[in-house]
Amino acid sequence: MFDSITINGRTIASALFLAPMAGVTNSAFRRLLADFGGYGALFTEMVSASAFLREKPHVSPFTKRRENEGAVIYQFRISGEEDIEAVFRKAEHLESFAIDINLGCPAPKIQQQASGAALYRDFDRLKDVLRRIRRIYSGTLTVKCRLGDDPENWREPFVERLRLFEDCDVHAITVHPRYSGEMLKRHARWREFPWIVGQTRLPVIGNGDVCSPKDVQLHREWFEPLAGLMLGRIVAVKPWIFREFAGLPPVEIDHLEVWDRMYRYVMEDFSPDRAYGRLMEFTSYFAKNFFFGHELYKGIQQAKTAEDVRANAMRFLESKPRLSVSESVSFY
Ligand SMILES: Cc1cc2nc3c(=O)[nH]c(=O)nc-3n(C[C@H](O)[C@H](O)[C@H](O)COP(=O)(O)O)c2cc1C
Repeated sequence: MFDSITINGRTIASALFLAPMAGVTNSAFRRLLADFGGYGALFTEMVSASAFLREKPHVSPFTKRRENEGAVIYQFRISGEEDIEAVFRKAEHLESFAIDINLGCPAPKIQQQASGAALYRDFDRLKDVLRRIRRIYSGTLTVKCRLGDDPENWREPFVERLRLFEDCDVHAITVHPRYSGEMLKRHARWREFPWIVGQTRLPVIGNGDVCSPKDVQLHREWFEPLAGLMLGRIVAVKPWIFREFAGLPPVEIDHLEVWDRMYRYVMEDFSPDRAYGRLMEFTSYFAKNFFFGHELYKGIQQAKTAEDVRANAMRFLESKPRLSVSESVSFY
């Protein structure tokens, strides 16, 4: 399963995607993943379309990418109030695998700015935004969404949007099967994947709570119809995990070395004050590799600078901490 996927006539191996994650899937993290491989394409974190107009894409750690990352998909957060034409004219120079539109983010701040789940909800505005994009941009376009708002009546609006995506020449859709009112607490509804796939000719990439190849093997009937699989938080815990999903030979993992490499990559791409936040965020996930990982996380909480974060993390990692043996990871 998930050996390859063809999107808009281009085939990538494997059909495994890194989820866009604000604060996590920056250029340093993508560089680390490229060292391990196994994925088909990497999403950037969501980039505000209007901020993108002010950024230097080859310098900003949101958009910067290195040759060895392979296929990168840039995700935009957009509401329609931006100068969409200017955004997509500029985006064309990114030479990305695809541009993705965030239609799923439920965070109040994002919805207040009329994007993410708020754009999915507003059908007429969504139609207008996609049509405006399509007038200027003929490249590969994908969207990422949830199931919608209403647990009792989400299917009809969902199918209505699928027709819109098809009409607007969207090339693939990622579905994270939660409702927009749910944060990441309740389990993703994997059982909806076959129904969703049955409603559209577009390739569907499934996402949400997948932590190990066993999750897929144990629920083959739900995952088999999908064209691709997207992994999010588990990749920040185990940046090498795509290898396991892709069936590549395992590599020996030295957790201290991996953390320290990430530190170097972050320090190279970010100013020291911004590096601090990125390291904290990454370490909150990476700590889940350890039986007493909360001690690693607690230790870095005391740190005031990126260098302090490193000193505290090294103290923990040099103590040869016991690894967690569980394959499932709790994010709560
Ligand atoms: C810290 C964090 C940041 C996220 N940022 C984005 C984002 O920028 N764009 C987006 O579409 N989804 C975002 N998401 C949602 C993820 O892409 C994904 O749908 C979600 O984490 C479920 O997948 P997982 O269980 O494999 O992590 C974010 C999730 C997390 C945890």
